[in-house]
Amino acid sequence: MAQTTNQQDNLLEVSHLKKYFPVGGHQYLKAVDDVSFFIRRGETFGLVGESGCGKSTIGRTLVKLYEPTDGSILFNGEDITKFDRKQCKQYAREAQMIFQDPYASLDPRMTVGDIIGEGIDIHGICSGMERQKIIYDCLEKVGLSKEHASRFPHEFSGGQRQRIGIARSLAINPKFIVCDEPISALDVSIQAQVVNLLTDLQQEMGLTYLFIAHDLSMVKNISDRVCVMYLGSVMELADSMELYRDPQHPYTKALFSAIPVADPDYEAERRRIVLEGDVPSPVNPPAGCKFCGRCQMAKPICHEQAPQLKEISSGHYCACHLFD
Ligand SMILES: Nc1ncnc2c1ncn2[C@@H]1O[C@H](COP(=O)(O)OP(=O)(O)OP(=O)(O)O)[C@@H](O)[C@H]1O
Ligand code: SF4
Ligand SMILES: [Mg+2]
Repeated sequence: MAQTTNQQDNLLEVSHLKKYFPVGGHQYLKAVDDVSFFIRRGETFGLVGESGCGKSTIGRTLVKLYEPTDGSILFNGEDITKFDRKQCKQYAREAQMIFQDPYASLDPRMTVGDIIGEGIDIHGICSGMERQKIIYDCLEKVGLSKEHASRFPHEFSGGQRQRIGIARSLAINPKFIVCDEPISALDVSIQAQVVNLLTDLQQEMGLTYLFIAHDLSMVKNISDRVCVMYLGSVMELADSMELYRDPQHPYTKALFSAIPVADPDYEAERRRIVLEGDVPSPVNPPAGCKFCGRCQMAKPICHEQAPQLKEISSGHYCACHLFD
């Protein structure tokens, strides 16, 4: 992996991860194509990029909902891709996922209490009063109350349902949570509340998050570091503040210029970089840099050779031939 760090600090280390889906005729859709990064203990690692760039596939692979095609995923120094059944079950207690759609991800026939208690039952953690206490505690942690345990998902608003989804993931006391666009489906007025809740829970419970969003503005406030993806590859990765202050990759710059700015004078003056053309197919990605067909800075080499992810300043990584 190109990124150097103190390994003790890292909860996850992802190296050369690939996830290819067969699409018939000996062809593969390269959803995740040689991706490497690490996630520090207790941090929020933001993952952004346009629809279809592979964010959810990474999230699902990290919690073992998908088996990778290639590469390694170290969790506390152990490669989860090599786990046997028993280790997988243990890992399912440590790594959880919160989904985008709080309507589709909760079973409408189960009470909220049973939804939250399901993980406790699957893992045989406890039963009876002890189980009930955990369920009530989790409801309280997410800003709901124990009276809600006997109700059904349809009795709740979108924001409340997402709180139930969060409570469900907390019940088995995980260390790592993949938050896959947890606020995208919510009203803007509710989004900040859910982000604040996730931040409070992180501090209280020492959680580590992978936070997925397709809009850079959504990950800005919650993320310590942000990774920008395009067509299955990492384009840029840096501390959140640095990335927002000083983006370097042409794709990140284009993404930023698409975000409206509050200051109208600045908004009128600044140059918008228009992202022209469609995202190419991940079945036949362009040779060389995957962004070359849409990049205003492309040079001949960009069409021939894929740029490697390089550290261009301390902790700031960029995959672009402009930095060769
Ligand atoms: N189970 C699957 N089988 C086949 N192709 C898949 C599967 N899951 C995802 N893909 C494809 O892999 C690519 C990456 O999909 P993914 O869902 O990871 O993107 P994403 O970045 O999460 O997008 P979005 O922002 O729309 O959620 C897409 O081209 C998608 O069509
Ligand atoms: S490698 Fe070339 S095509 Fe790719 S982002 Fe950099 S300049 Fe643009
Ligand atoms: Mg997704």
